[in-house]
Amino acid sequence: MTVIQHLAQRTNPPRLWLLWRGDNDAWAATGLPGLLRVAAFEHPELAPSSIEICGTTPLEAILADLLAAGQPVTEIAWRHGVRHLARIHPGPGPDTSPMPGPVRPGGAYLVTGGLGGLGLLAVRWLAERGAGRIVVCGRTAPSETAAEELHALHAATGTDISLVLGDIADPVIADQAVKTAVNATGMLHGVLHAAGVVEDATLSTLTEDLTERVWRGKAEGAWTLHQATLTHDLDFFVLYSSIAGLLGSPGQGAYAAANTFLDAFAAWRRSHGLPATAIAWGAWSQFGRGQHLAQCNLIMITPADGTAALERILAEGQHCVAYSPIDAARWTAPYPALRHSTLLAPLLSDLPTPDDAPSPLREKVLAAGTDAERRHLIEEFIIDQVRDLLGGTHRHIGPHTGMVALGLDSLGAVQLQQRIQRALHTEVKPGVIWVKPSPASLAEWLLGQMGCSGSNKEESR
Ligand SMILES: NC(=O)c1ccc[n+]([C@@H]2O[C@H](COP(=O)([O-])OP(=O)(O)OC[C@H]3O[C@@H](n4cnc5c(N)ncnc54)[C@H](OP(=O)(O)O)[C@@H]3O)[C@@H](O)[C@H]2O)c1
Repeated sequence: MTVIQHLAQRTNPPRLWLLWRGDNDAWAATGLPGLLRVAAFEHPELAPSSIEICGTTPLEAILADLLAAGQPVTEIAWRHGVRHLARIHPGPGPDTSPMPGPVRPGGAYLVTGGLGGLGLLAVRWLAERGAGRIVVCGRTAPSETAAEELHALHAATGTDISLVLGDIADPVIADQAVKTAVNATGMLHGVLHAAGVVEDATLSTLTEDLTERVWRGKAEGAWTLHQATLTHDLDFFVLYSSIAGLLGSPGQGAYAAANTFLDAFAAWRRSHGLPATAIAWGAWSQFGRGQHLAQCNLIMITPADGTAALERILAEGQHCVAYSPIDAARWTAPYPALRHSTLLAPLLSDLPTPDDAPSPLREKVLAAGTDAERRHLIEEFIIDQVRDLLGGTHRHIGPHTGMVALGLDSLGAVQLQQRIQRALHTEVKPGVIWVKPSPASLAEWLLGQMGCSGSNKEESR
């Protein structure tokens, strides 16, 4: 995080390569893929890439990658001398063939984050599938609606539902939750770990405190649950991960890192003969933290579809899977550099490369007769984009309005930078929006960048 923050402040930063050993239980490293995938959105100028090394790998092989010019954003793993590239491939469509359900009638289950949106859906699913006992864990007492829902579920299904309130990352709470969940025969059959905190910040504004808050429930909670359940012969141990970790998501560095930790933790548990399934969910509609994404026209997971997917994923015995109907082209549209990322390329292979796409704004600016006309076109574009990034605000935005004073935050600045870059086909340095804070000053600077005005020798910082 500190390295990225430091590099991002430089005018001509070098490329960022992170190397780490993947074969020594280096837990902190498992968050790095998430962090780097977010950096690829927020800091394309660093072309953030990584090499994970397991076992013996010849140094020359690693150096060849480090020195290869023009290599796109990439994630390489050297496993015992064999080079692998991380790539996301779309999965097959849903398998609808009948399978035995993963919930045991009368079984005992623990759901963390069980008072939140997706946690409550999981509780409902377990109860309707005949669970005998469910312990729901969250830090704060249930809302009136959640309490009514749990009451109604008990009345309808007969499932015994108890609450354990506290921080699941606290080993005492984790032990208490497990002890409360076991049934009369001392058995616990499954864990669904849906506790999590979503708190956003761009990498340049990310603090240790925020990172700690986001890691606490998700990552440390997963570890305490692991320890608290070691003596139980579980059928499943489900970790609610997110597509934000798998693809990267601007403004979600800490969150993405915590989710790639979960993905790696599932693999680690499996490698130790323990059940584990990490599911990188896309955004759900109607329940949970992702509902606002409907405004971005993203395709959402409906509760019925997501619950059916959860059941199918467990019945199939998957251990690390993403379930998301995401439109990768839309997700990456404002971030042209990502089209070349080796991770995302298989999802985007049908698209024309954005560098080739025509840019009507650029053409209009170049065709305009005077500097004033050119400046006006760019100012109008910036004003429209800022209005959009601020959720369609009706506040007045003029050429001399301060964009930061209006509420444009660091994530908004990253998005504005990339939208301008795409529309004008000209490089825009990440920090320029802070030093050219009005549409007029930014437009003037951009004209200089495009070689269209007398200020083209101006530096961004
Ligand atoms: N909703 C989505 O579209 C979506 C998409 C991808 C992944 N996910 C993942 O799915 C999980 C559930 O998401 P959601 O949308 O249902 O979120 P949510 O409504 O905010 O629920 C999360 C719950 O976790 C609890 N929690 C947080 N930290 C905790 C801790 N340390 N100990 C115990 N409980 C804790 C919170 O309650 P308190 O604050 O009261 O403790 C909250 O009720 C999260 O891990 C999220 O990252 C969700």
